[in-house]
Amino acid sequence: MKTVVITGATSGIGLATARKFVGKGYNVIGIGHSETNCDRAKEKILSDYPEAKIIYFVANLMQLSEVKRVADELEKYITANCNGEIYALINNVGGVRSWYQTTAEGYEQQFALNHLASFMLTYRLLPYIEMALGRVIMTCSNSHKGIKMHWEDIMLKDGYNPLTAYKQSKLCNILFAEALNERYSNNGIRAYAVDPGLVNTDIGNKQTGGVVNLIWSLRKKHGVLPEIPAETYVHLCEQKTAPKGLYYYLCRERKFSREVTEENANRLFDLSEKLCGIKYRDLVVEL
Ligand SMILES: NC(=O)c1ccc[n+]([C@@H]2O[C@H](COP(=O)([O-])OP(=O)(O)OC[C@H]3O[C@@H](n4cnc5c(N)ncnc54)[C@H](OP(=O)(O)O)[C@@H]3O)[C@@H](O)[C@H]2O)c1
Repeated sequence: MKTVVITGATSGIGLATARKFVGKGYNVIGIGHSETNCDRAKEKILSDYPEAKIIYFVANLMQLSEVKRVADELEKYITANCNGEIYALINNVGGVRSWYQTTAEGYEQQFALNHLASFMLTYRLLPYIEMALGRVIMTCSNSHKGIKMHWEDIMLKDGYNPLTAYKQSKLCNILFAEALNERYSNNGIRAYAVDPGLVNTDIGNKQTGGVVNLIWSLRKKHGVLPEIPAETYVHLCEQKTAPKGLYYYLCRERKFSREVTEENANRLFDLSEKLCGIKYRDLVVEL
């Protein structure tokens, strides 16, 4: 049985994706930050699929210390229960903020949750993904287009605009996928960025206020159900030979921003390593 790890799997796109993978017979490990929401999500899935192999781990992925703690727990669980293999890691967790807010570790919250958490978790789980010649999938967004990286002020502290911060974090998602492919595609690991489209979820109504909350309440009504983008993650995992594209929407390759260059991908990778205090290793086995 193949194992899939999904972050932000308690609501919206992550929950719908967890349910789809369970329905296809995968062993699903979800991560959420509220124990109550994790229990509720698990119950929902089990009510549809009583035989489901599904377990949730609780962690506030906004904090790198919490990412490391849950990675320790996952390592033990995966070694004991999943033959030490992860077939797919779906870095889906994400959030929106209305104002400049930092984490306890001092990082702007959208950058920390939408990018750094995935960067750190992937680093920790890479050996298990390597064992399965697996796939890493980021939940990106069409909003990554029309923005450049603010290299001189990556946390956007100077004149903070929440939408700019969100867009930049989504550009980080696809740059990270690109960097992973550059480093590890020869080792049989493939990374992708999925554009879910506009989806009717509560993302813009959680820990937000003012205009962001209001605009999202109106905008989300035009979104599709989360089950629609969930198909794309399953599609990318169900192909026997890993698809060669980078950016996918509705199970098809889509054009991405011209800002997605090798240079930008490497620059973000190096910077993220420094901010996380880690160094991704070279994998030994070349296919
Ligand atoms: N909705 C859209 O139109 C859209 C479009 C493009 C991209 N996206 C991307 O899709 C992804 C999922 O968003 P969604 O729309 O499905 O929103 P969502 O329903 O709010 O899902 C976000 C998930 O992340 C979890 N989460 C939030 N903060 C966390 C934290 N600090 N630690 C751990 N987990 C945390 C949430 O937990 P709770 O359930 O407990 O809140 C939830 O499971 C995000 O990366 C977002 O940027 C969404």
